[in-house]
Amino acid sequence: MIYLDNAATSRRKPQEVIDAVVFAMTSLGNAGRGTTEAALDAARTIYGARDKIAGFFGVKNPKQVVFTSNSTESLNIAIHGLIKPGDHVISSVMEHNSVLRPLYEREEAGAELTLTECDEKGRLLTDDIEKNIRDNTRAIVLTHGSNLTGNVNDIERVGRIAKAHGLLFIVDASQTAGVIPIDVEKMNIDVLCFTGHKSLLGPQGTGGMCVREGLEMEPLKRGGSGVDTYNHRHPSEMPTALEAGTLNGHGIAGLSAAIDFIEKTGIDEIREKEQSLMKRFVEGVRDISGVKLYGDLDAEVRCPVVALNIGNADSSEISDILSMDYDIATRPGAHCAPEMHKSLGTVEQGAVRFSMSYFNTGEEIDAAICAVREISEEFSEEN
Ligand code: ALA
Repeated sequence: MIYLDNAATSRRKPQEVIDAVVFAMTSLGNAGRGTTEAALDAARTIYGARDKIAGFFGVKNPKQVVFTSNSTESLNIAIHGLIKPGDHVISSVMEHNSVLRPLYEREEAGAELTLTECDEKGRLLTDDIEKNIRDNTRAIVLTHGSNLTGNVNDIERVGRIAKAHGLLFIVDASQTAGVIPIDVEKMNIDVLCFTGHKSLLGPQGTGGMCVREGLEMEPLKRGGSGVDTYNHRHPSEMPTALEAGTLNGHGIAGLSAAIDFIEKTGIDEIREKEQSLMKRFVEGVRDISGVKLYGDLDAEVRCPVVALNIGNADSSEISDILSMDYDIATRPGAHCAPEMHKSLGTVEQGAVRFSMSYFNTGEEIDAAICAVREISEEFSEEN
């Protein structure tokens, strides 16, 4: 199979990640629950991962790194924990439903929401963010990179706007963590939400959030913590405050090995390879008759994601042909990004998304280009 659905989840993981998960599954106890060697090994593994992630994202205190099951959980904790009725929030039409749905729920509870628009190439109208600020604006919630167009937002600039106006800045790094460097201090990010199973190359069910020191929020879950058992309230110390119940120690061990792999390989090396595969694909398909591409394809920095349509064909039909006739995996349809589709005019058709990883090869990209060309020819003959 030629797997080009890495924006949904990276399928090929470094061998070190697989080995770390197997080792963890055959050795670890439960972190923070007792002092057996197995429990201590689990605690050391999780602390080691916390420390590595803190270093990776520029977080000074590892205790401000919280483990969750994915960015959806992190975003839900941040949005529900920080946005109250009466608050105004600025977000964008580029967002995934993991941002939009919690925000719509907050809106129903009495918060106000403004979605900043994009231009025809799906580029955020960043100047509008400042214009959208009101007296009661509490936060900016923004994706770093669109899962549909691959366009990347200038998070550092938006961080400066948030800081200048005293607003909280919550960032969804689902599509960028592991491929575009992120420094929460430099970018003035209050809460960075990330998932482990995409460009971080870790297992599914891993993810987390980096929370600015001193920022307190209501947890989504309360429960076992291994400490302060007789207290009716869940502990308020970080990271326990936002981590009730047994952590996914096995997955976190894999995520830790994945960060080691990225650091050893070099995030710049990974990004450059992915960008070159993406550019090779764009150059190969952009002049094929009937192919319509979306996004700012000539931008200097992009996520390794290319969305396209062929004529008026339904994106699901094209993705099925790619899968069944060519053994190429892509994602069709609406990509959980409803407002981005409205903005691009692709609500009916959806889009076929090709997303590359460090482990794809130039030959695989050429095979995908050939497939798109053949399918386009077939469709143009039919119509
Ligand atoms: N959010 C993932 C995607 O974009 C699943 O495909």
